[in-house]
Amino acid sequence: MKNAISIADKVHWVGVRHADLKVFDDLFPTHNGTTYNSYLVQGGEKTILIDTVKEPFAAEFLSKIEEQVPLDKIDAVVVNHTEPDHSGCILLLLEKNPELLIYCSKAGENFLKQLLNRDFNSEIVSDGYELDLGGRTLRFILAPYLHWPDTIFTYLVEEQILFPCDAFGAHYCPNNLFDDEISEFYTDFHFYFDCIMRPFKDKVRDALAKIDGLPIQMVCPSHGPVRRSTGQFAIESYARWSVAPPEGGKPRALLAVLSSHGNTRNMANVIKAELETQGFEVTDFALSGMRDDDYRNALEQADVLVLGTPTIQRDAPPHVWHALSLISSVTPKSKVAAVFGSFGWSGEAVKMVEQRLTGLKYKFAAEGISFRFTPTPENLESCRKFDEQIAGTIHTRD
Ligand SMILES: [Fe+2]
Ligand SMILES: [Fe+2]
Repeated sequence: MKNAISIADKVHWVGVRHADLKVFDDLFPTHNGTTYNSYLVQGGEKTILIDTVKEPFAAEFLSKIEEQVPLDKIDAVVVNHTEPDHSGCILLLLEKNPELLIYCSKAGENFLKQLLNRDFNSEIVSDGYELDLGGRTLRFILAPYLHWPDTIFTYLVEEQILFPCDAFGAHYCPNNLFDDEISEFYTDFHFYFDCIMRPFKDKVRDALAKIDGLPIQMVCPSHGPVRRSTGQFAIESYARWSVAPPEGGKPRALLAVLSSHGNTRNMANVIKAELETQGFEVTDFALSGMRDDDYRNALEQADVLVLGTPTIQRDAPPHVWHALSLISSVTPKSKVAAVFGSFGWSGEAVKMVEQRLTGLKYKFAAEGISFRFTPTPENLESCRKFDEQIAGTIHTRD
C-alpha cells in the first residue's frame, strides 16, 4: 500500500496507513492502528479528490496523488467530513492550487473556515445534488451527525460506490486494501461503531433510510479496509446496532445507585418498590463495580434515569461522575432524570449531579431529594412522593 491502488476504473485509493497508532484522537484505543483513506475519482472533464488525510502524512499522500495526476489538475475536493484526520491536507492543497473548489455541507463550510483560517472556493451541496464529472456522476447524501454535524456521503452513481467517510469504517490497518484480502476485523469494526457512532443511533437510522434501496457494489469508508465484498454486511450491521428502543409496555426506570454507608441504598429500596407500584419496570444498578456496557445499554432503554448518590468530601463520588460521563457515549432513549441521596456533613452531591444533568440537556421528573444520615420514616415517605412525581411526569409525557 505504498502506492495508489485502483479500486475501479479511474478510481484510486490514495490514502495512508497509520499502523503504529495506539489511541485515536487521544480518546479511543486502536488495537490494530488505522488508515486515513482518500479517493481520487477521474471523470471525462473533472478530477475530484474525496477527503484527504491527516496532515503528518501529507508527503506520502501527495506523492500517491501525483502518481495519477498533477496536483494542479485536481478540480475539487469533496469534504465528506471536516475532522482533521480527513481535512488535514486541504490547506496544503490550497497552497498548491488556490482555485481548488471544495464541495461540502453548510456545516462543513463553517467548520472549514475555522479550521483553515483562510479563504477558499466552496460550493455547498444539498441532499441529492449531483455533480457531473464528464461521463460519471457524484451524488451527495446529507448524513448529519455521522458523526459530526457536517457529514455527507458521496455516491459514485455509475460504479455504485459509496464513500461514507467515517460511517462503516474501522480503525484497522490492513496489509492489503480490500476486505476479502485480509483477516477478520469485525471486532474493530464493532468497537469503532461503539466509540464513534453509538451516540448518534437516531441519526444512523436516518442515514440508513436515505441509502435504503440504493445499489451499492462497494463501500469505501475513511478508515480501514475497502469493502468490495462486505459492504451490505457493514450496512446491515449498522442497522442492527442502531435499532430504536422498543415502544409500548411498561415505562422503564434506570435506578443507578452508589451508597457508601447504606443510607442512599435504603432510600433506593423504597424508591424502587414505589416505582414498581407506579407501574415501572426498574433496572437497578450499583454504580460501584458495574459493567459500563450494561449501564450504557440500560440508558438506551430507559424512560427515566433515577440516580442516587451520597456526598463524599463535598462531592459526588468518582463512580457517579463516571456514570454521568457515559451518557454522551450513547443515544439515551429519554433525557429525563431525578436525583436523590443521603449525606453526612454538607450534602452538595445531589445538586451537583442535577447541574451536570442540566448541562447534558436533561429535564427533571421530580425535584431532587437529599437527607442527612439514616433516612427517617418521614424521609422515606418523601421518597414515595418523589416517585409519585416521577410517575406523574413520565405517564403524562406518554
Ligand atoms: Fe470523524
Ligand atoms: Fe475519521
